[in-house]
Amino acid sequence: MRITVHLIESNGTRRDVTGHAGQSLMRAATAAAVDGIAADCGGCMTCATCHVIVDPAWTERLPAASADEDAMLDTTAVPRQPTSRLSCQIALDDSLDGLVAGLPESQY
Ligand code: FES
Repeated sequence: MRITVHLIESNGTRRDVTGHAGQSLMRAATAAAVDGIAADCGGCMTCATCHVIVDPAWTERLPAASADEDAMLDTTAVPRQPTSRLSCQIALDDSLDGLVAGLPESQY
């Protein structure tokens, strides 16, 4: 099953990207050439340039952030919000089909 995620750019433009179970949201977004996700470290959780702000309606479907992810979220270019996550740490699965997440104005 293809999993579709709706990414909302800071200017309001919606980008729909598709991925597959087990793929990270970051990988699905970069494969779709979404400019708002830089992902400089390639998913090693050392850059925080894959920041997304998950729609509050979806946060409970995601596993809680690890302590390491939580620490990295303190280093995002645009200050973290209550539902901020690193998209490299969001593993897509069928329950996330339809996920909505915003992109910060900048990753730097
Ligand atoms: S891609 Fe670098 S922290 Fe997610």
